[in-house]
Amino acid sequence: MQVFHQIHSLRTALAEERRQGKRIGFVPTMGNLHQAHLALVQQAQASCDCVVTSIFVNPLQFGLNEDWDKYPRTLAADTAKLEAIGCDFLFCPDETEIYPNGMAEQTRVVVPTMTDVLCGASRPGHFEGVTTVVTKLFNIVQPDEAVFGAKDFQQLAVIRRMVEDLCMPVRISAGDIVREADGLALSSRNGFIGEDERPRVSQLYRSLSWVREQIQSGRRDYLVLAEEAKEQIENAGFRPDYVSVCNSHTLDPAAHDDAEITILGAMYTRGARLIDNVSLVLD
Ligand code: PAJ
Repeated sequence: MQVFHQIHSLRTALAEERRQGKRIGFVPTMGNLHQAHLALVQQAQASCDCVVTSIFVNPLQFGLNEDWDKYPRTLAADTAKLEAIGCDFLFCPDETEIYPNGMAEQTRVVVPTMTDVLCGASRPGHFEGVTTVVTKLFNIVQPDEAVFGAKDFQQLAVIRRMVEDLCMPVRISAGDIVREADGLALSSRNGFIGEDERPRVSQLYRSLSWVREQIQSGRRDYLVLAEEAKEQIENAGFRPDYVSVCNSHTLDPAAHDDAEITILGAMYTRGARLIDNVSLVLD
């Protein structure tokens, strides 16, 4: 695997791949790689001739009181994991490479409305940071295809919308959510979960799955269902942020005749904010 810290050297290497007619796949990450990240790389490998993974803990998408400073940075272990599965290129720039103008940087990519709700409501500015850095990374890598996990469902929807609205020449693919045996979705933030909380944190997944079962058995009182799920999460000892039954494409509150539905939720443990979602199709 070739490792690059600088935009210009990565571009030179990728220009050669492109000249040979290779299809370039891309998996953007913030590192601390686990099995779900590696599955995205393998998914990209299945449909592309070479794959670039990026590792960059993007300061622009963290709020002032969020965990940017304690976000786990494990570059040596991450490099070994990518090497082991045959990733071709790793791009791990430092902050000045991505933000050469630092705080004086002006340009932002914004997808309004869709980012005001759900995670966007409790993390103002977060999605603007994501769409801005992903645009930069797309401009640097110029991939044919980029793979994002369905775990960050709102992020995936926002990026699909950005790519469509801005005519970006990249195909966006979704990777399935990878979970622990008890249902907890893999996340770099799971390391912040206390040992005493760990047996109970899969309540988020269990409550979202419970809402899905209720809908499958005919209930359509989505607001009431969401409230009941939040109560379950509270009773398990956690502070719910939101639970919402949404249209899978627009992320608007689901209408009674919507067929493709996603139930999204977020909750706080002592040391982390966890998110999850489950989808269903009604016929
Ligand atoms: P990060 O949290 O490192 O996630 C990188 C990718 O891995 C995202 O597409 C995310 O959805 C996916 N992922 C993480 N856990 C997953 C799981 N349990 N199952 C399936 N996919 C999972 O998301 C980001 O980084 C950043 O916002 C980024 C897009 C890199 C922009 O900075």
